[in-house]
Amino acid sequence: MDKFVITGGHRLTGEVTVSGAKNAVVAILPATLLAEGVCRIENIPNISDVSAMLKILKTMGAEIKFINKTTLEIDTSHITSYVVEHELTKQLRASYYLIGALIGRFHRADVAMPGGCYLGLRPIDQHIKGFEALGAEVTMEENAMVSVKADKLLGNAVYLDVVSVGATMNVMLAAVKAKGLTIIENAAKEPHIVDLANFLNTMGADVRGAGTDVIKIRGVESMHGCEYSIIPDQIEAGTYMVAAAATRGDVLVKNVIPKHLESITAKLVEAGATVEEYDEAVRVKMDKAPTHCNIKTMPHPGFPTDMQPQFATLLCLAEGTSFVSESVWDNRFRYTEQLQRMGASIHVNGKTAVIEGNPEGLMGAPIRADDLRAGAAMLIAAMAATGVSELEEIHHIERGYENVVDKLRSLGAQIERRTFPDDEEHAQRNAG
Ligand code: EPU
Repeated sequence: MDKFVITGGHRLTGEVTVSGAKNAVVAILPATLLAEGVCRIENIPNISDVSAMLKILKTMGAEIKFINKTTLEIDTSHITSYVVEHELTKQLRASYYLIGALIGRFHRADVAMPGGCYLGLRPIDQHIKGFEALGAEVTMEENAMVSVKADKLLGNAVYLDVVSVGATMNVMLAAVKAKGLTIIENAAKEPHIVDLANFLNTMGADVRGAGTDVIKIRGVESMHGCEYSIIPDQIEAGTYMVAAAATRGDVLVKNVIPKHLESITAKLVEAGATVEEYDEAVRVKMDKAPTHCNIKTMPHPGFPTDMQPQFATLLCLAEGTSFVSESVWDNRFRYTEQLQRMGASIHVNGKTAVIEGNPEGLMGAPIRADDLRAGAAMLIAAMAATGVSELEEIHHIERGYENVVDKLRSLGAQIERRTFPDDEEHAQRNAG
């Protein structure tokens, strides 16, 4: 079993460069199914969700060539299959984008229900509502296969009952080649929605209004290859910003779009940090205990749910009581148990966590990453704590953070990735 072993108590200082956005690239790679030609994509993050998506596309018949560590060329023109089995989709949530892209390309898709982080129920009813509005027939087959067929795809109005990132992007993927005008109302506005729209437009689509809650898509006959660079990862940037504040450090976070970080910056300032904004960087400094504050997660431009565990960890180190409300996911507080093991006073009451902060309150402990962002929160907690922590289930973290050990070490963190014998084997050896 691989773990991170972290000795806390070291301030993070220096510079760190943010990689390409996970939640953009996992939609942009499937979107290449719509191009009749080669797409050259830059700023690809080296994370396991990308490897999993590339493996799916390769298995389907895509030709993929890495030009350098962060740039690839992908040609999907020889793909003839619209079937993706569970063995492949179970690895990542974003495999649902294959449904929209395959409908756009073949008017057919048989894709097994996706895996991904457990954050409570993760329904796809709004994706299905969108596909049906475009004229597709959707059925759930055996083995949780979502089977979609459409004789014709016709543009239509799609009102989303909940603001959903996945449904907004999936309907965009299905609609770009539908005949006529599709209007998505109550659309999500996250930066990765705009990035996908820009990518589709670079391939010849006609998508307008991305970044607002009404997106208009006029269908086109065909789309071509293109060159594109993925936006920087807002959540990776936010994670390093909060890590800097939690360790009372001074970190320049480079390759960011400061506008995407506004809600995180505002809350860090409220918690007592200094945040300086540059064109493509932000510098976060903290030289005292954080001040307590409250956060409520909301769709963009509100405070992102994907930063909730990391920020709650910072608030465990604050003077006073903070309230953290989660309004996007039903079950995103599992990590609080791990923080309690480290000495934090954090208690969940329904959709709110109440934190009695203590600036010296975290102690190293054996802990676990319950999911991707919970894992990022555990890293922050362990770096801010006194003593040594051993963090398990780190594969969750490697789904979304490129080179996290090297990046943190370059900032002065004491962190190592170590392989331990399996617990059972370990116990047997000790017994023997
Ligand atoms: N929802 C429905 N029906 C649907 C779709 C969503 O009821 O058909 C509900 C969900 O249950 C949830 C809310 O709507 O309560 C928002 O879900 P959304 O569809 O926006 O989430 P998602 O597309 O499945 C993406 C990110 C998540 C991030 C959320 C919210 C990807 C691959 N995942 O998920 O990222 O938390 O948007 O911003 O883009 C992460 O990166 O750690 C992560 C979990």
